[in-house]
Amino acid sequence: MISIALDGPAGAGKSTVAKGVAKELDFIYVDTGALYRTVGLYFLRKGIGTELNCDIEENLKNIDVDLKFVNKEQHVFLNGEDVSGEIRTPEASMMASAVSAKPPVRAFLLEMQRKLARENNVLMDGRDIGTVVLPNATLKFFVTASAEERANRRYKELTEKGMKVEYKEVYDDIVTRDYNDSHREIAPLKPAEDSIIFDTTGLKLDESIEKLTNMIKEKVEL
Ligand code: DC
Repeated sequence: MISIALDGPAGAGKSTVAKGVAKELDFIYVDTGALYRTVGLYFLRKGIGTELNCDIEENLKNIDVDLKFVNKEQHVFLNGEDVSGEIRTPEASMMASAVSAKPPVRAFLLEMQRKLARENNVLMDGRDIGTVVLPNATLKFFVTASAEERANRRYKELTEKGMKVEYKEVYDDIVTRDYNDSHREIAPLKPAEDSIIFDTTGLKLDESIEKLTNMIKEKVEL
């Protein structure tokens, strides 16, 4: 099986690019952020704040996260309920960042991610795929873009979905999440030593897809 790790900060265009590339290569696209969001949503629904003043391990016993692919598109389920839409709100984003800093949560989701890569050709999108989840991935990329460009893209994406958000709020969210994700003790966001840096600043979506697909085709025997 071929596994391609795609790590990088929020809003670098990773997921949209990865979806396009996965289609070109006929791989499964796995969005691991959705798993953290699903766990986060559980705590959010329970009314627990981002400081997570609760027994996390006890709560995890009541959480069942499942991933299913419908027409190759990923859907996430929280205790049997499809929450693929609900996990995308700004509140769920913040909660995902909070739960993702907790070791029991990372351990809880680890095997599930590895199993997907054992059984499928995957393009796996996350923060620690190349460093922790799949240290032996066939290829590793670190996808990035400037914070301003990432905030612009996220703002556009959210407003197009009809959400009412302020640009400043989106930008501050990105900076805060970058800080949290790269300064946490466990599995911080950082490029794996053997990863290729792919900067999408100034590239249009189709240009990024084409460039990444070609880089993969050059390096991997498909
Ligand atoms: O990629 P995203 O915005 O959907 O990710 C949501 C949060 O989950 C983000 O704050 C970082 C965290 N995350 C993580 O810690 N490890 C991953 N492999 C994927 C996401």
